[in-house]
Amino acid sequence: MRNINEDTITQAVLASITDCRNERLRQVMTSLVQHLHSFAREVNLTEEEWFQGIEFLTATGHITDDVRQEFILLSDVLGLSTLVTSQNNIKPAGCTEATVFGPFFVEGAPEYALGADMSNGAGGEPCFVSGKVTDLEGRGLPSVSMDVWQSDEDGFYDVQRPASSSGQHEHRARGRFVTDAKGEYHFRSILAQPYPIPHDGPVGKMLEALGRHPWRPAHLHFMLVAPGFERLITHVFRDEDKYLDSDAVFGVRSTLISDWVRHEAGTAPDGTRMDRPFYTLHYDFVLNPVQAKVQR
Ligand code: BEZ
Ligand code: FE
Repeated sequence: MRNINEDTITQAVLASITDCRNERLRQVMTSLVQHLHSFAREVNLTEEEWFQGIEFLTATGHITDDVRQEFILLSDVLGLSTLVTSQNNIKPAGCTEATVFGPFFVEGAPEYALGADMSNGAGGEPCFVSGKVTDLEGRGLPSVSMDVWQSDEDGFYDVQRPASSSGQHEHRARGRFVTDAKGEYHFRSILAQPYPIPHDGPVGKMLEALGRHPWRPAHLHFMLVAPGFERLITHVFRDEDKYLDSDAVFGVRSTLISDWVRHEAGTAPDGTRMDRPFYTLHYDFVLNPVQAKVQR
């Protein structure tokens, strides 16, 4: 294999992987190489531009650590996360839609009893969230594990705040609940606000160069897990948010938008006397049984 040139390089790379025994890896890499080469040909990529791309990926790696996942951000703003989520979560009509995971989920969040306040000191206007988790026939699903996470009033997740002296992040505005015998859940938290995705790194610079903003509309993240049902990773968005139609990560779906109702000071749904305005959000989830997965 010598004297490879512009016309023969793609075939040469593809020929070099024909012995790969992992069939799926060979399929994915063959397609990746073909598309990558087509891209370079189509835009007539210069050497300077190629090197800028290498520098960009290097910077993306350098800023990435346990709590800052710049590659997920890159995938999100390029729409790849939404594409992969959509094509892997085709469900029967009536099931709650999935959306992007995002980089701020934390394994092992505190488990709270239903009705508890998961804000744990995070700042924001009080918000009481409730609803029901059902199957497609409307039967309530008991014992569904429900992870919830959100940003605070300044648009930061707890993991974006400075860690304590022990290097730990206090869990704030995140928690895990379990649905009751009727499949119902309720908890107290704070009002979610729109926030910019982390944009002080290479992905932020790229957005700026492309004339794009980094904002996401206000939302709550949910991950629901129940035996016999597909895991659901989704958000509930706040109606009338000004970023609903320009979400930096393309995650909004109309069925996930809900009314977050403002109330003057008074009695909250859990009977607490509130001396300041508060919000309520009611959202029901419908899970997809494992065997009902729609085939393409
Ligand atoms: C989030 O909603 O937490 C998120 C999603 C994608 C990128 C950054 C943040
Ligand atoms: Fe978020």
